Amino acid sequence: MSFQVALNFEDGITRFIECRPDETVAEASYKARINIPLDCRDGACGTCKSLCESGRYDGGDYIEEALTDDEAASGFCLPCQMTPHSDLVLRIPSSSAAAKTAAATHTATLAAIRRHSATTVEFTLDVDDRNGLDFLPGQYVNIAVPGTGQARSYSFSSGPAQLQVSFLVRIVEGGAMSGYLTERAQVGDRVEFTGPMGSFYLRELARPVLLLAGGTGLAPLLSMLERMAQEPVAPPVHLLYGVTSDQDLVHLDTLEDYAEVIPSFTFDHCVADASSSARNKGFVTGLFDASTLYNGDVDVYLCGPPPMVEAVRGHITSLGVTPASFHYEKFTPAAVRQTVEAA
Ligand code: FES
Repeated sequence: MSFQVALNFEDGITRFIECRPDETVAEASYKARINIPLDCRDGACGTCKSLCESGRYDGGDYIEEALTDDEAASGFCLPCQMTPHSDLVLRIPSSSAAAKTAAATHTATLAAIRRHSATTVEFTLDVDDRNGLDFLPGQYVNIAVPGTGQARSYSFSSGPAQLQVSFLVRIVEGGAMSGYLTERAQVGDRVEFTGPMGSFYLRELARPVLLLAGGTGLAPLLSMLERMAQEPVAPPVHLLYGVTSDQDLVHLDTLEDYAEVIPSFTFDHCVADASSSARNKGFVTGLFDASTLYNGDVDVYLCGPPPMVEAVRGHITSLGVTPASFHYEKFTPAAVRQTVEAA
């Protein structure tokens, strides 16, 4: 028996390793040829100190100089000493290059193309080595756009346990992936991608959750919902989904399905276009207040274009509420991602 440990590096690259309950994370990393920062290997120097964001473990033996009680209480840990009691997610204080590793490359076959509307297309891949692809819900990959020599970043809209992987694409004029999907893509095309990457992923469900999506920023939140649907009990989860026009609205039926499967899940949506037939016209900032944020006892996940992300951040600040955790990801039409996290 072994547990899965996700090692997230400072450059956003994530590698997954197997770790038995009787071996330390450092030993398992070494076996996987990943050189996480180590010095004494004895719980004395603190060089390996990392942040455990999810999972249970035995912290092992160490001295106060390496890890204080306050740090341990805040989730910091020593991979040279810790042994897992469950799957873990660790933030490693080095780049993937320093750890002599890199993003994994995967090959796949285009299995389906679903044109939701003129503005939004979804595609699905059969990954050659699906068992060799692990990711955290919310993460993204860099996909080589066939025939272009260019790559674009897209978040998984599918869950980590689903066999096929899917992505949502906003169609933009002149876009590399847009051109491929609307003009040339054929089921059966070969596709290559690298990853997973990014620190925008679902943490442990410790309190109510507010999910905020702008446009195709819905994709990583769908992946998170798919994961939550596997949990026996989920805390209250509310999703607010904002788009520019009616044709941008996708997967409302999927959200209805999740509301059936996850009893604590509710959602609402709004459309900025004043001529929309949607019940709520305007922006997601009009759909939440301090009570929606449980006056701070909430984990917030926000993904959308930069103006939407900035508007939401400003709105939360104006409400005078500081969420327990706040994770957000901005994307641009070229899908260059900037993930920032505020505690
Ligand atoms: Fe020194 Fe872990 S390597 S405390």
